[in-house]
Amino acid sequence: MTHSHAPAPPDSMEALAERVDTAIAEVRKLDEGARSKALDLKAAVEAFHKAGLTRIVQHLKADPRGKELLFALVEEPIVYALFSMHGLVRADLATRVARVLEMVRPYMQSHGGDVELAEVRGDTVFVRLHGACNGCSMSAVTLRDGVEEAILSQILEIRAVEVLPNEPGPALIGLDAIGVRGAETGWVRGPRVDQLPPGTMARMDAGTADVLLVNLDNRLSAFRNACAHQGMPLDGGLLDPTDGTITCPWHAFCFDAGTGECLTAPQAQLEPFPLRVQDGFIWVRPC
Ligand code: FES
Repeated sequence: MTHSHAPAPPDSMEALAERVDTAIAEVRKLDEGARSKALDLKAAVEAFHKAGLTRIVQHLKADPRGKELLFALVEEPIVYALFSMHGLVRADLATRVARVLEMVRPYMQSHGGDVELAEVRGDTVFVRLHGACNGCSMSAVTLRDGVEEAILSQILEIRAVEVLPNEPGPALIGLDAIGVRGAETGWVRGPRVDQLPPGTMARMDAGTADVLLVNLDNRLSAFRNACAHQGMPLDGGLLDPTDGTITCPWHAFCFDAGTGECLTAPQAQLEPFPLRVQDGFIWVRPC
């Protein structure tokens, strides 16, 4: 079983988009006649899809339950990309930026930080960062980079992210987040072991950290619930008990479910937490 440099699954958004880009690049190399025929074909297929999708959206919008479903669908990055490609969704920029920040917020908060959207002006997003995101420690820089990367990679119209100085406010880091802990302190009780059957994962709120619990063949592990790629939550991902991997739901990075080793980008790694079982409960010690 070798997973090093495993390519993205063929039906992932990255793989599909890359396939389209590669084909278009090839078409552009064709001579004039062939190229225009191929581009006509592309335009015809897209027009067909747009007409069908438009009808689907119209029907869904006409019914309150359909509308709800439509909103849920648009949350799926691939559906969103498809709809925007055909001009069927046009959330304003600020809403889309706020949506991206909502996705990174749990990760920031689990690191004692937070982010606030101040304004979107032109192609620039202005944010304020709080708590552990302030200062120049490695983790502050990593958190700031994470916010910037998440916005720039998901909203193509945005070209810059600026951090505004903070207005004075209450400290956001709880004392327990910075307190020194001995080996026997800091354990947080999670669910009962029998609530995490083999081949399943669960999210656990451990106070200072959002934790991902994994049961692979009765071998239990705990990791910070943050993908090593962009820090997005992993609990909606896919645990494959046959090859012992977790696939991130966001961009399909693949991880060894026992060790947290990233099999897509070998230098990355999920952050493991100590775990023990006592009196039928799972206990985790988030750092
Ligand atoms: S956040 Fe991108 S693969 Fe997980």
